[in-house]
Parts: sequence; structure tokens; C-alpha cells
Amino acid sequence: MSEFTCNQEIVTIARRNLTQDVWDYLTGGAESEMTMRRNRHAIDSYAFIPRVLRDMSSIDPSGTTLGQKVRIPVLLAPIGSLQAIHAGGGASSAKAAARFGTMPIISSITEPSLEEIAEAADGPKVFQLYVRGDFDWIKSIVGRAKSAGYTSLALTVDSAYYGIRERQLMNRWLPPSVKAQKDRHLQSAITWDLMDRIRDLWQGNFMLKGIGSVADAVMAVERGVDTLYISNHGGRQLDHCLGGLETLAEVAAAVKGRAELIVDGGFLRGTDVIKAIALGASSVAIGRLQGWALAAGGEDGLVRCLELIEREMINALGLLGVNNLAQLTTDYVRKTDVVGPTHELSTFYHMKERLT
Ligand SMILES: Cc1cc2nc3c(=O)[nH]c(=O)nc-3n(C[C@H](O)[C@H](O)[C@H](O)COP(=O)(O)O)c2cc1C
Repeated sequence: MSEFTCNQEIVTIARRNLTQDVWDYLTGGAESEMTMRRNRHAIDSYAFIPRVLRDMSSIDPSGTTLGQKVRIPVLLAPIGSLQAIHAGGGASSAKAAARFGTMPIISSITEPSLEEIAEAADGPKVFQLYVRGDFDWIKSIVGRAKSAGYTSLALTVDSAYYGIRERQLMNRWLPPSVKAQKDRHLQSAITWDLMDRIRDLWQGNFMLKGIGSVADAVMAVERGVDTLYISNHGGRQLDHCLGGLETLAEVAAAVKGRAELIVDGGFLRGTDVIKAIALGASSVAIGRLQGWALAAGGEDGLVRCLELIEREMINALGLLGVNNLAQLTTDYVRKTDVVGPTHELSTFYHMKERLT
């Protein structure tokens, strides 16, 4: 595992280890996959403006997010049915996060149970909620997450309907959580008022996952939401959205520090993470890369993946002239044209023929 040289190598091994059905579930997006491609396009469309002749002999890539110190500001995004990708499911993500020194966001539709995942590893953890029952059901699951020691609650709000994922449709394959689920329609009826009631129940650090507009970001801030998790669900829900990093830049300019910002969508490398922090995020989250790392090497593979991102961050910060993340500002990035193909795996595009 420790022999994985870079994350693109991890992806090629994941491709080898996964069946076509599971590969497509993990890697695909909704409809034309334009949102998914725009996630990468948004990241690729920022260039660095490096500074030189500064003492770069010591570099600290650690961050603080959701009130916790993290070794690098890279969280593990919630993944449903993770057990189909790697047998350990959410417990393997939690263990890898604790070993490395970051936080997992645990999906409410993965296995094992939220209590078993909480017991599997020490360290702070976020619980992600999909609404699959009435208010009593919500009360019960939020209470369970609280008792199990989760430190933040993330309510996913970009999933009123399940995205039309054509790879899954053509494979005639559904993830176990979707096959098993009842009462999915209740997710379609979440409103700002219900959100307020869920936040009142939780009484702790609370975030909305799936903010995709400045208008909703501002409404959430006005209602006192602590953290906005900007995401288009990795391009798996509404097609033809803006890339996550593009939305982050717009929201950061409007919110002006009144809420903490987290972003995801297409993050694969240390340089990607640095761009998001420069544009105003406190942390980013990795979805598919986490899944590929688990598929390639289980818990050890995921720890290695995070180590590789850390190494890339230290290298890029050193070359950018920045000793720590607090020094990063928008002065270090500029929007420009994208050179070369834009593909979900575009930073791995020279491996493309082996990956599709
Ligand atoms: C296989 C898979 C399952 C997912 N399941 C969930 C989920 O249960 N809850 C949720 O809020 N987001 C879910 N997401 C979205 C991720 O949390 C995250 O927003 C997205 O993957 C980020 O983009 P990236 O994969 O390009 O890193 C899932 C994503 C993938 C790839």
C-alpha cells in the first residue's frame, strides 16, 4: 500500500479491482455528466500566481475546520453503499481518517450502522442525514447520532430526486441502499422550516450539504446555519450545474466570512485543495477518490491516498511561497483558460484509456 506512488496509480488499481457495475456507480454522474466535467473544469481553470525568495524551509499544511484541527483540510465526503466498494464500508473510512488525522462524513445510507462506525474509530466525525421518515424518525436518528458522539450534522439538501445516472440504468444495477430504501419521497419535501427544526434538534455544529447558489447560501446564513457545504453531489444529481469551485468563489464573495465554507466536486490533488482554500474554503471533501483508494487498498490505501495529497500540498505550498494555509488568499490564484481535455479524471487524463 505504502508503495502507491501517486493517486493516479491508486485509480488504475481501483479500476482493476472493481466490477464494471460498481466502477460505474462510483465513477459516473447524472445524464450527460456535464456537471461532473465542470467540477474538474472549474478547478483546472484557476492558475497559481507564485511568489519567490521567501524562506520555505518549513511548511505546515494543517487546517482547522468544523472546530477541529486536521492534518490537512481534506475531509472524507459521505458515500452511500460504501460496502459495495469495500467490505469495511463506512468503518474503513472512519478508521483511515482517524489514523491519518482528518474527519470522515458518514453517510446515513451506508453500512455498518452509525453506532458501529462510531465505535470503529476514535476522533471527530460528521453524520450526514437523508430524510427517510417522518419527524419522529428524524428525532430518533438525530438522537442516535448525538449519543454515538458525532460532532457535526450535515443535512443533504440537493437530492429532492435521485439523479438519472445513465451508466447505472444501462447496467440495470442499483446500489444496495437504493434497492432497500423506503420513504425516499420524504427527502423531496424538505423545506427551510423543516431544516430549522432539524437544526434545533441537533443543537450543535450543523451544515447544509448541497448548496449550489449564492441565493441559498445567503438565506442559510440569515437563518444562522454554521457551515455551508457547497456541492453538486459530484455531478450525480442535477446535470448542467456550475462546477463546485466556481460556486465556492461566488458564495465566498457574498457570504464574506459569516459562515464556514466547505466544498467538494472533482478534488484529486494537493494543488486542487490549495486553490479551494485560497478561494475561501476551510476544507474540501473527497468522494470518488476516497472510494477508489478504498477499492485499491482498503483502509491502508485510503491512508496512503491522504499522505500523497499531503505531500503534494507541501510541495505546492513550498513552490507557491506560502508557509501555511492562513497565508493563502485570492492573490495566489487567477482564473484563466483551461489547456487540454476536461474529463472527470482530467488530471489523470494520460491514463484515460486505461480508466474508461
Ligand atoms: C458513490 C457515491 C455515493 C455517494 N453517496 C452520498 C450520500 O450517501 N450522501 C451524500 O450527501 N452525498 C453522497 N455522495 C456525494 C459525495 O458526498 C460528494 O458530494 C461527491 O462525491 C463529491 O465529488 P467527487 O466525487 O468528485 O469528489 C456520493 C458520491 C458518490 C461518488
